[in-house]
Amino acid sequence: MNPVLENIKNRRSVRSYKADPVPQEIIQQVIEAGNYAPTGNNRQAWRFVVVTDPEMRGKLYETAFANWKKVFDNIKKNNPEHYESVKHYGEMKDPVYYEAPCVVFVIGQGPIDSAMVTENMMLAATSLGLGSCYLYFGAQVLDNSEIVEALELGEGEKIYGPVILGYPDKAPEMPVKKPPVVKWI
Ligand SMILES: Cc1cc2nc3c(=O)[nH]c(=O)nc-3n(C[C@H](O)[C@H](O)[C@H](O)COP(=O)(O)O)c2cc1C
Repeated sequence: MNPVLENIKNRRSVRSYKADPVPQEIIQQVIEAGNYAPTGNNRQAWRFVVVTDPEMRGKLYETAFANWKKVFDNIKKNNPEHYESVKHYGEMKDPVYYEAPCVVFVIGQGPIDSAMVTENMMLAATSLGLGSCYLYFGAQVLDNSEIVEALELGEGEKIYGPVILGYPDKAPEMPVKKPPVVKWI
């Protein structure tokens, strides 16, 4: 198969990682791939914050986990059907960042550009033998001023991702993908 198409199809959201660190030059290659994303007027209005420091990863985990837990408990209480499909997350040690050794925040000014950046990053990660995952819950850290300060969030800037990176511990199963809905004219 065409290697680009194969890579697109092989990319999976990985939720189990080895503790091995990702070498900095590999992280840089992933970031460079993100940085090559298309962008309106070639603005490239984004930047990256890479977190590998265990202390900061711990702060991220504590803050985001507390916010994740509120949502999880609410699902448990009010939506038993949905809870059945997500309850296994409650048994994980880290159901937010999945203990990934590297967390990359894309700090940008627009959701479209930033989404393109993160998909480029995840495809690059797959091609380099890394696992990755886009994390809505990983971005729920803004109620911790220490983290906000570390991210240096400025006027008009928002967090996209983060994208976690690491060497996969378990290969995830392919989730069911619906066929594309297409109208040909
Ligand atoms: C906007 C967005 C937010 C996501 N947030 C989370 C998240 O918080 N936690 C998580 O485990 N996966 C998250 N994912 C990953 C999706 O669950 C995943 O892409 C989907 O289940 C399809 O699986 P695949 O990526 O392996 O094809 C997110 C994906 C996107 C695009």
